[in-house]
Amino acid sequence: MNQLKHLAIIMDGNGRWATNQNKLRIRGHEQGIKTVESIMTYCARDTDIETLTLYAFSTENWKRPKLEVDFLMMLLDKYLKSKLKVYMNHNIRFETIGDLSKFSNKLKERIEFTKEITKNHTGLKQVLAINYGAKDEIIRSFNKLLESSPTSITEDDLDNVLDIKDPVDLMIRTGGEHRISNFLLWQIAYSEIRFTDTLWPEFGPEELSDIIKNYTISKRRFGGL
Ligand code: FPP
Repeated sequence: MNQLKHLAIIMDGNGRWATNQNKLRIRGHEQGIKTVESIMTYCARDTDIETLTLYAFSTENWKRPKLEVDFLMMLLDKYLKSKLKVYMNHNIRFETIGDLSKFSNKLKERIEFTKEITKNHTGLKQVLAINYGAKDEIIRSFNKLLESSPTSITEDDLDNVLDIKDPVDLMIRTGGEHRISNFLLWQIAYSEIRFTDTLWPEFGPEELSDIIKNYTISKRRFGGL
């Protein structure tokens, strides 16, 4: 049986969910927050998952209309404020990956506060990927390594400077597209990947539980036989 230590999710389909309901795209992101809470709570309470990494905002998402970007920034701030109790009640540690330097000071302070106040929690580690792109992460990491003028580097050297070291066991993408979209390229080297047509606002613990069951019995060979 496969262990599931690190689950990573590409939360796609908020916009289409809203359009299907004749609502503004931003309403889909609002609804997406509800799914974030239910999936995170389920992982913390009902599974042995150690790390749940959620792709909330990519380095490419800045290209969206300013109104949607501004709304997503506001939503992130509101999310961290209003859901802090969920992190507290369920012993969840909050972390981020991605380049935080582009965010406003107010948002950076909220992020740092949430990390600080949850840092001793021993349950699920919930990692939010914000202004994250795997290529950007790898380049930033190489530049960190170059600061000590190495003559060659090892996999371990890179692992130790990446935003996140934990290899992904299972990656899920909702919303029907079959691509990775620059998410955790190094960490998914041996990951199982599952795609579902379900739009993120309609995804829930029941479907996740089915995917996990299917993952648990699949054969992972890591290049061996
Ligand atoms: C993809 O849907 C989703 C995003 C770009 C953002 C994900 C954000 C959330 C789930 C809500 C915010 C989360 C937090 C934790 C603050 P899409 O807009 O690409 O949907 P589409 O493919 O149907 O257009």
